[in-house]
Formats: sequence, C-alpha cells, structure tokens
Amino acid sequence: ARLGNVEVHRGAGGETHQLAGGDVPVLTTQQGIPVSDDQNTLKVGPRGPSLLEDFHFREKMFHFDHERIPERVVHARGFGAHGYYENYDSLADLTAADLFQRAGEKTPAFVRFSTVAGNKGSPDLARDVRGFAVKLYTKQGNWDLVGNNIPIFFIQDAIKFPDLIHAAKQEPDRGFPQAQTAHDNFWDFISLSPEAMNMALWIMSDRTIPRSLRFMEGFGIHTFRLVNAEGKSTYVKFHWKPKLGMQSVVWNEAVKINGADPDFHRRDMWDAIQSGDFPEWELGLQLFDDDFAEKFPFDILDATKIIPEEVIPVRRVGRLVLDRTVDNFFAETEQVAFCTQNVVPGIDFTNDPLLQGRNFSYLDTQLKRLGSPNFTHIPINAPKTEVCNFQQDGHMAMRNPKGRANYEPNSWGGALGGPRESRQGYRSFPAEESGAKRRVRAELFADHYSQARQFFLSQNPVEQTHIKDAFVFELSKVETPAIRARIVSHLLNVDEGLAKQVADGLGLAEMPPAADPARPVLRDLEA
Ligand code: HEM
Repeated sequence: ARLGNVEVHRGAGGETHQLAGGDVPVLTTQQGIPVSDDQNTLKVGPRGPSLLEDFHFREKMFHFDHERIPERVVHARGFGAHGYYENYDSLADLTAADLFQRAGEKTPAFVRFSTVAGNKGSPDLARDVRGFAVKLYTKQGNWDLVGNNIPIFFIQDAIKFPDLIHAAKQEPDRGFPQAQTAHDNFWDFISLSPEAMNMALWIMSDRTIPRSLRFMEGFGIHTFRLVNAEGKSTYVKFHWKPKLGMQSVVWNEAVKINGADPDFHRRDMWDAIQSGDFPEWELGLQLFDDDFAEKFPFDILDATKIIPEEVIPVRRVGRLVLDRTVDNFFAETEQVAFCTQNVVPGIDFTNDPLLQGRNFSYLDTQLKRLGSPNFTHIPINAPKTEVCNFQQDGHMAMRNPKGRANYEPNSWGGALGGPRESRQGYRSFPAEESGAKRRVRAELFADHYSQARQFFLSQNPVEQTHIKDAFVFELSKVETPAIRARIVSHLLNVDEGLAKQVADGLGLAEMPPAADPARPVLRDLEA
C-alpha cells in the first residue's frame, strides 16, 4: 500500500512499517547507520527476551531519556521569533555602535517574549511582567537588550533578586501557585520591600495582562551609555514602541482565556507571522547628560524609577520587524541565551546595581542550563561575524583554534599565529570612580512612593478601577491579615482613595496607619 509518496507494509504483529525511497529519506541512527525496523526491538523469538545488543533501541532510548534540560530559573515560558532591526538615520554623533551608523541598515534580530514567574507549561495570560529580550546580530558581534514590558523593576539591588523570585514562584512546602502572584509569600516580600511599591502599582495595572505580545511596549529599564567615536558618553534609556499601540484584556477575560487556550499569546504571534502580518516596534531613545542626571530628583541608577517621557521625550530611531517563526522551538527559543553583558563597541553600562548583578547572573545560569561553556557555538547564540580566539575544549567544542597557536603573544607570524588585538576593539567608557567600599544604598534611592502616586494618577478612571480590583483580588488570596494590612499601609502613601477602596474591598476591620515614608533626600543637601 502507499500513503502519499510513502510505501507502507504491515508487519507480522499488525504494526505499520513506512519505507524510504524516492525523495523519502532513510532513517538512520546518530552514527548514520540505516535502520531496517523502527517498530520492534531485537528479541530472541517473537516474544523475547529483548537483547542488550540492540544498539538502535539503546541509542534511541538513551537520547530520549536525556531530552530535558533545566528550564530557565525565571522567564521559563517564552516564545521567540526572528526578524530585523532597521535603522532610520545615522546616530554616529551619539554612538560608535556599527548598527546605528547608516540610514536604512538592517541588522538580523531574534526576540524572545516570556512570562517571569510561571513554569514552562504555565498559562500565557497569567498576571505577570512580560520579558522582551532582543538579540541583535550586529557586524561587531551580538548586542542583547534584555528588557521587560514594564519600564521599572521591583528591586534596586541585584542581591535581592533570589529573594524576590523565591517569593514570587511556588511556595517551597506546597509547590503552588504555579503562575500566580496572588499568594502570601509574594505579597509578604513586597510589603516588606517598599522599594517595590512603584512596580506593585504597575503590575496591578492592565499592562500585566496584555491582549497580545504584539500590543506591548518593551523597555531596557536601566540607564545605559551610548559612547561615540570621540569617546563622548550620553546616557540612554531604551524603549520599544509597538506599531499596533497597546492593548490589554480585563482580568475576567484573562481567566477564561487561560482555561480555554493557555497558549493564546504564542498562538497569536505564530498566526500573525505565518500570515504575513509582521509585528513591528520602533526603537526609542531617551537621551540625557550628566547635568540632567544631577538635577533629576531621582537617581538615574535606580531601576525602580522612570524618567517621564514628558521630561525627556522618546526619540524614535529605527524599527524592529518580526517576520519569521522558528524552524525548531527547542533549538532556537529554548537554547537562546540572552545576557545584559553582551554589548558592542559604542554601548556601555552604568553603575546601576541591578544591572551590574545581572551582568554576572545570566552567563552563570546559562552554563548550568545549557551545560557547557560552548553554548555560544549553538547557531542561535553564535554571532554572525567571525569568532576568533584561543578559547578551547570543554564539552561539545566545535570552534577550537586551528593549527599550532592556542595562546598569544606568540612568535608565529601571520595566519599561523592566530588572531590578535584590534585598536577598534571594545573599550570601556573610562568613568572616574572613587569612594569607600561599603554595603550601603545611595540615599537618593529612598523615595519609594512619589512615582507610584504619579503612575496611579496618570491612569484614567477605568484603569484606576482595574488597579483597585487587582489589588483586592490578589490580596484576597493572601491568608495572613498582617500582610494585607501592610500593603494597605503602603497604599496610603500612594493614594488615600485607592488605599480606602482596597481596604473596603478586603473587608479590613480597621484602617492601618500609613507606612513611615522614606525621607526624600535632596542632592544639594548631601553636597
Ligand atoms: C531571564 C529580564 C532582572 C536574572 C530574563 C529574561 C528576561 C529578563 C527578559 C528572559 C530572557 C530569555 O527570554 O531567555 C530582566 C529585567 C530585569 C531583570 C528587565 C530588571 C531590569 C534580573 C536580575 C537578575 C536576573 C536582577 C539576577 C541578578 C535572570 C536569570 C534569567 C533571567 C538568571 C534566566 C536566564 C537564562 O536561563 O537564560 N531576565 N531581568 N534578572 N534573568 Fe532577568
């Protein structure tokens, strides 16, 4: 019999054998040995026992047994797509980064969107921050802008990240909730970390239940530096502005969608790209100098604060288009490894203590997750430029140095001696640093309520109601009365009306006193 172009036979036990031939390729083992029968193990007689000699069975089962790798410790659930960044005009006055030098230049890109707290199989419409990680394969190597869809973060210092994530994910005794922030541990941590108050307002807003990944903003969050060929530095905040605008669902819809189609967001992205309706974002820059940084009432190194777009307008400098789905989810979306520390000449860090900690964490976790220091050899992570150095060996080495030289300096000239340094190579911005070595937080980081209030007041009445409803829903799942009351005591410093409505919604017997607000410190008083 035939099934399409495949010849089909029935085996002795009624099993189906499909045969190679014509343009149907031959099934082989990993060693390339052609397989004659993939339906039956090698046995003594038709009823066994099975033979250890069956290398095809053993290899197939061994490989299957080792298919799983650890999921990401955060942002485990994600969806990736390929595309490009197209630069509008030369930004040579601002940065030496090659991808920004020429108008119309296209740079290949890979983007992975994610939720933060849920495990790999968790529902897409969980109330959560969305990751927005962009890998740009520039001609000077890979630049990763590893951002979120909210312009600020929960904490100010990376040393709190393990605590934040432990508190947000499943509780260690019961193993749930799987993808919900509505539980005691999460709100306990938030209530004891007033620095998270601005973020608490943002995550209770509609932004954490986007209608589609195509209708979200993205943010690099931290203040970075652009550095031009003359070595001049300009501070920058990166933004991605969706061409479709922003849209969210309401909580009632989110809950239903999670039940009916937990893959709602990834299906939407897949369908849009497959049908040629390519999602698009514009890259925006907020640019400022030391003078502005000195005058701004918050520290530009504090990742829990925005710089309002009314104060520094967002300049749109290019567009990101996603026009190709992956060939293989595991090879690309799962194995992609983003890292804040992957920057190209012309882009540099600041001393934001959250960013500095991230620069360590990603590379470290990826060694564990991908299993070898050679994960940059995997095609999705490999730069599209030539990689040439003396790093060698390790598991799965596929890019070892060729020839005799595996060190430098060496006496072997020309090609024999291998790669050497370049005057155009990456140079860190020579920022002047001084001060005593201490574990202390900058005093200007201490105002935790003003921007939370600004954010709440910037929302229209319907959006404000959604924020109130979200707080009531989330805190109603918190069993410990003291934690509920503590959140309300913070909300009193954000907006009294909101605090009262939340207290009413929760049926609090009495209103707690307002939390003692951190004393805002003026920079001129410090001087
Ligand atoms: C993963 C964003 C803070 C550690 C991710 C991902 C994104 C992201 C988008 C997923 C990347 C992907 O799709 O593969 C952010 C943002 C932060 C932040 C915007 C704050 C502004 C931190 C901090 C740490 C951290 C403070 C630790 C110090 C990690 C780790 C992963 C991760 C370990 C998993 C990476 C992997 O397995 O490949 N983050 N993150 N993040 N993040 Fe963050």
